[in-house]
Amino acid sequence: MDLPSVIAHRGASADAPENTLAAVKLAVEHGATWIEIDVNISADGTLFVHHDDTLDRCTDGTGYLVGTKDETLISLDAGSWFSTQFTDEPLPTLSALVDLLKPHGTGVNLEIKATPGADIALAEKVCDFLKSQWPEELPVLASSFSPLVLEEFRRQLPEQPLGLLVCAVPANWLAWMERYSCDTLHCAEHFVTPNFCKTAQQAGYPVLCYTVNEANRARTLLDMGVTSIFTDHAKAMIAAIQS
Ligand code: G3P
Ligand code: MG
Repeated sequence: MDLPSVIAHRGASADAPENTLAAVKLAVEHGATWIEIDVNISADGTLFVHHDDTLDRCTDGTGYLVGTKDETLISLDAGSWFSTQFTDEPLPTLSALVDLLKPHGTGVNLEIKATPGADIALAEKVCDFLKSQWPEELPVLASSFSPLVLEEFRRQLPEQPLGLLVCAVPANWLAWMERYSCDTLHCAEHFVTPNFCKTAQQAGYPVLCYTVNEANRARTLLDMGVTSIFTDHAKAMIAAIQS
C-alpha cells in the first residue's frame, strides 16, 4: 500500500464542513491523493460518513446517528454549522462518497467510528460494503479504535489492509498489532517519539499520526520516520511538504 506523506483529515476540513462531499471534493482539488473519513451506521443499517456519535455538532439534527432512520438523516443540513456557503450540504452516505471519489482513484482511510454497542453491526456492514460495493480503483485502508471492529474485520476480511487506531501508544502495541494482524499504526501525534518510530520501522509497520496542522511539526514527524500525517489543512500542508 503506497501511503502519501499527507492525508486530508475528514476531507479539506479547515475549508469546508468535515466529512461532507464538499470537503472531500475540495481535498481532491487541493491535491490530496488520500483522504480520511469517519463512518457510522444508521438505525436502518445504512453507512453514513460522520465523526460524532450524535448529530448535534455538525448537522441541524439531534440525537444519536445510530438511533436515527435514513429518512431523517438524508434530509439533514450538514453544512450550515460551518458556513452559510454550505447550506443544505447533505450528510453523505458512504456510497455517495465512493461515487464521488471513484473517477479520481483517491485512497481512502476508512475510520470505522463505532458508537459503543454498535461495533459489530457497523463492522459487519462495512465488511459487506467492501466485499460487494467498493470499487477496485480506490485503495482503502480501514482503521478503528474498537477492538471489536478489528476482530470482526479479521474474521471476515483477513487480507484487508487494517490500521490499529489509538490515541496514546500502549506499551504492548506490538502485541496488539499481531493480535489483529494490523498493517499500520495510527496514533495522536503527541505520542510519537524517535524510539517508537525506530521500533515501528524495524518491525515494518508504517506509523500514521493525527492531527498535524503545523508544517514544521509535520516535517519533524516525517523526518522521525512517520509515514503519513493527517491534516485539516491539506492544501497548505501539501505545498509545505513538497517545497
Ligand atoms: O483516523 C485518525 C483520526 O481521525 C482519529 O481521530 O477523532 O479525528 O476521528 P478523530
Ligand atoms: Mg477520524
